[in-house]
Amino acid sequence: MRRKFVAGNWKMNLNLADAKALVKAIQAGLPAKPGIDVGVFPPFVYLKSVAEVLPPSMIMGAQNCYFEAGGAFTGEVAPQMLKDVGCTWVIIGHSERRHILGETGEVLKKKVKAALAAGLRVIYCVGELLAEREANQTEVVLRRQIREALGADVTLDSVVIAYEPVWAIGTGKTATPAQAQEAHAFIRGEIANLYNGSVADKLIIQYGGSVKASNAQELMGQPDVDGALVGGASLKAVEFLGIIKGGIAAPAGGK
Ligand code: 13P
Repeated sequence: MRRKFVAGNWKMNLNLADAKALVKAIQAGLPAKPGIDVGVFPPFVYLKSVAEVLPPSMIMGAQNCYFEAGGAFTGEVAPQMLKDVGCTWVIIGHSERRHILGETGEVLKKKVKAALAAGLRVIYCVGELLAEREANQTEVVLRRQIREALGADVTLDSVVIAYEPVWAIGTGKTATPAQAQEAHAFIRGEIANLYNGSVADKLIIQYGGSVKASNAQELMGQPDVDGALVGGASLKAVEFLGIIKGGIAAPAGGK
């Protein structure tokens, strides 16, 4: 069975005091053994302070990393540095990094490989733009994004894929559960083609894009939706705890 994974991507939000308070408030409302994975992804500069208040029942990761281990790369952060401050995960290929910061598939592949080589686990994000969905290109885009960064030279044991349709991010326009399921099933099928059926069956695929407490359980109740990557709603403890509750209530997928 696949264990659900609910993660909060804080993006470039909060201040230090609010970041620490948010973790404590999530912890206060979290069951001792939630039976699902719960993670937070603070901005780089808050990672160490958040690690100091992070309970064992929660995991922490960064929102990005560079692909080199060190050197003259002003402003960048190496995977090992993230480990040093308590990260076990990193998000790679978020649509905001692809579309605002201009990261290409070639760069993202290097990042995935560097993060895994350093012993981090990776949430690799994929998702189509509205224009691509309207032009019936969703599957073409997802296939390309999967093949650009994953494949024979990347083992998937420590990789989660997040399907985040760009038109649903921060817009309040959630994909319907049926739309999410359709895309997730397609992604799982692509992974089966690229690897094999057993790797695909084990792969955790999160949905992201306007997830909130009121739609979380229905989304995560879809057979191929194994969790959520949450932006805006992860900044409020009550809302994030509601999403976690939805994840706990939703049945686990897979064999
Ligand atoms: P929202 O939940 O704010 O739509 O953001 C989703 C997202 O981009 C998570 O990585």
